[in-house]
Amino acid sequence: MIGLNNQDRSLEVIATSPINIALVKYWGKVDEDYIIPWNSSLSITIDQNDLCSKTRIRLVQADESDEQIELILNGKKDKVTKRIMNVVNAIRERTEGVTIKQIRDGNQIETHFEKEELLKMKIMIESENNFATASGLASSSSGLSCLSFALAELFGVKESFEGEYSTFARLGSGSACRSLYGGFVQWHCGFSSRDQLDSLSKEELSRKSIAKQIDISSESMNYWLDNLQIAICCVKPEKDQGLTKEIPSTDGMKITIDTSELMRARLDCNLPQKHIEQLTMTLENRDFNSFAEITIKETNQLHAVCLDSYPPIFYINERTKKIIKQALKINKEKGKNIVAYSIDAGFHVFLFIMKEDKEFVLNEFKDLIENDMDRLIQTRIGREGVKIIKE
Ligand code: DP6
Repeated sequence: MIGLNNQDRSLEVIATSPINIALVKYWGKVDEDYIIPWNSSLSITIDQNDLCSKTRIRLVQADESDEQIELILNGKKDKVTKRIMNVVNAIRERTEGVTIKQIRDGNQIETHFEKEELLKMKIMIESENNFATASGLASSSSGLSCLSFALAELFGVKESFEGEYSTFARLGSGSACRSLYGGFVQWHCGFSSRDQLDSLSKEELSRKSIAKQIDISSESMNYWLDNLQIAICCVKPEKDQGLTKEIPSTDGMKITIDTSELMRARLDCNLPQKHIEQLTMTLENRDFNSFAEITIKETNQLHAVCLDSYPPIFYINERTKKIIKQALKINKEKGKNIVAYSIDAGFHVFLFIMKEDKEFVLNEFKDLIENDMDRLIQTRIGREGVKIIKE
């Protein structure tokens, strides 16, 4: 829904977007500018009532001397990066103007903005997170999905193929393309073999590298939506360790692709794709035990290829390891998996637990919650992805 100020002919849109956590991890790019991943990935969208980014974008009439784009992030002016410019340019290229409908004195009035007028307007972006930025939880997935979706709406861009919006978000940050949808989401890498990869141009790949909601029966989907609980352990940093990671994911994944033989084996054996297929089956079969096993192995593999990189990259800390060990101990004592963990390029841990086991499991984590975490965020799967809101 676009707001129009008739006095100064400025336009405004507000969007909110959830974060997502990958169960099958994206790590490594075929192309740095188009952000085409080496493998497909699968994620869970987190309920945006608990964690989300909110972005307000205004298009205002501008003098030629004005800055073209202004970005305010969590109340402070920030740099407009090359990636943000890539998102902006991709959307600007696709605009054909926009028509705003308003009701005035009971009549519907239409105001049209031609493409040329839109392209001259200044873009003012204000983005904030409803979770403490200092918690060290990644906000790029929600922030960039929000920004690209709001911008597409403002420029009147409708999808010309299924998943096109996700290609805009992907240009801002790979993982952002998965925040467009609720539930379980797969980001398709865009090719199914090396031969196909070699035969496609960057532009063709870019149109194929899209995110989509995972297709499982609605009964199975409802089972997970109703039962899966998520606890985010915001782990305390260790002495001398800041809250932000020392090696950003973008740099880390490049080092891994350039140097890790294990990573090459992961890709040559098509393990991410195998894990996606197995996970999708566990979702359809409502099989938490296997869901947990694949999720845990995927996270371990991400951190294994990081350690195999040269120089090695360590994201987890000793406190993270304590949480991993406790989860494994609980599962061993129960004789089946009742808790799974997933860790991205950082030291925080996402725990997955079924509703009936939540109290027992969190009780087993009591000491760690008190001593090793800054806080524990209890949440669940988000049914909705990015959306335009009205204020
Ligand atoms: C470990 O999406 O932050 O979270 O595409 O360079 O912006 P860029 O990287 P980003 O990487 C996320 C990596 C990960 C795994 C995942 O989310 O799949």
